[in-house]
Amino acid sequence: MPRTGARMAKREKARTSESGRKGPKIITRKPKPSDFRDVIEYYYRFYEEVKENPLFGIVLSHKRPNMSDERKWFSELLGRTKRGATVALVAEVDGHAVGLCEVNAIGRPRSEVSHRGELGIAVSSDYRGMGVGTALLRSVLGKCRKKFEVVELSVFSKNKGAKKLYESFGFSTYATRPHSIKRGDAYLDEDLMRLEV
Ligand SMILES: CC(C)(COP(=O)(O)OP(=O)(O)OC[C@H]1O[C@@H](n2cnc3c(N)ncnc32)[C@H](O)[C@@H]1OP(=O)(O)O)[C@@H](O)C(=O)NCCC(=O)NCCS
Repeated sequence: MPRTGARMAKREKARTSESGRKGPKIITRKPKPSDFRDVIEYYYRFYEEVKENPLFGIVLSHKRPNMSDERKWFSELLGRTKRGATVALVAEVDGHAVGLCEVNAIGRPRSEVSHRGELGIAVSSDYRGMGVGTALLRSVLGKCRKKFEVVELSVFSKNKGAKKLYESFGFSTYATRPHSIKRGDAYLDEDLMRLEV
């Protein structure tokens, strides 16, 4: 994994990579097997982030999953995306995958809940606040229109930044699930949001 200094240099490069425009050049595209290396690198960092920020807004396992479990998860994601069961895109900056957004069909295939998709998104800590999440959501929601009628998500109620982003795309909160997350001894609520696409 690159050291923090190397990551910062990468981020600075991304910030100035498009002449005359602020922020990095962001490509959104289908995930491919070689993205695993980047995705796992920033995903494993989430386990460090949560130590610094107990409200860190991603649901994690009690123990960091091992590499082979993660490979299995990623290859299943690629398989579902290929079959069209999942809409998934990565954001690429400077040749690296720096964010992933996926929308999975709810329930069994071709069932009475298949018009609903569940969205998840995460961006590498080095690339947040640069428009990557916005670019991913815009592209993914565009693709969801052909596949789903409703996109739903759950977000930590205290994750005001993420909620603001979702609201900017028209998502609204329809319920709160109390004590949805148990992190150590603390319980956190989740807001449930939905968007008709
Ligand atoms: C939430 C997340 C996906 C957003 O992606 P991002 O690339 O950082 O978002 P963008 O740079 O496109 O920001 C878009 C808008 O989101 C809002 N936003 C995002 N993060 C914010 C924060 N920490 N504080 C305040 N506003 C925030 C702002 O409105 C921002 O627009 P602005 O910069 O014009 O004010 C990303 O920050 C992330 O992965 N965070 C950690 C994990 C997480 O919380 N995931 C959400 C799970 S539900």
